[in-house]
Amino acid sequence: RHSADEIALMQRAVRISEEGFRAAVLEIRPGGFEGRVEAEAERVWKSRSARRPAYPSIVGSGPNSTILHYPRSERVMQDGELILMDMSAEFAHYAADITRTLPVNGKFTPPQRKIYDLVRQAQKAAFALVRPGAYFEDIDAAARKVIEDAGYGDHFIHGLGHFVGLDVHDAGAYHEPLAAGMVITLEPGIYMPAEKIGVRIEDDVLVTETGAKFLTDGLPREADEIEAWMASRPASSGQR
Ligand code: GLY
Ligand code: MN
Ligand code: MN
Repeated sequence: RHSADEIALMQRAVRISEEGFRAAVLEIRPGGFEGRVEAEAERVWKSRSARRPAYPSIVGSGPNSTILHYPRSERVMQDGELILMDMSAEFAHYAADITRTLPVNGKFTPPQRKIYDLVRQAQKAAFALVRPGAYFEDIDAAARKVIEDAGYGDHFIHGLGHFVGLDVHDAGAYHEPLAAGMVITLEPGIYMPAEKIGVRIEDDVLVTETGAKFLTDGLPREADEIEAWMASRPASSGQR
């Protein structure tokens, strides 16, 4: 459970991380380099006094989007692929932890979109349950049910989320009810190596007195918003 001052620092870490995403997205294009996407985010963080990543950045396109902790960011993105970016700054020792998954060419293919929307549905089902007194297990189960009911249960291969704070995976009482002032991630994902489709959507959520609030409310989350984000980039982006 965090004080208002601590939450303000975590919000700052989130805002800097979001700004990193906006710069990084300018580097996404067929023929572009994963490492360049990662470097842009980290450049922004450093220029905002966030000295380091909160955890090793994960930037994986195509088959790499299905690797949970792909550490290398050394592949050239291809037309028609997804790129999964799990990358966030630490600010004043507080971590953010954000993932977005985008289509490299700006448009989801129908199969990608189907999976994306399902992951987002799972996140919504989880978010709806977050409030003081709720149990992490139940929130996890609600997200998992959405994905299982759609037949993809075997592809959601990690926990729904964790506490965030001084540490990206912060200490916390995972089996006790949530309380106002806690910050958790909600990060459902579906990973299908054979299809080269990996989707994770990860947001940082503050438990409030009355429910929950996204600290990460500065980045697009819905598939349509993601496509609009890609389409709104200046024509020269990615050409440097
Ligand atoms: N970036 C590590 C995690 O999402 O838990
Ligand atoms: Mn996480
Ligand atoms: Mn993460």
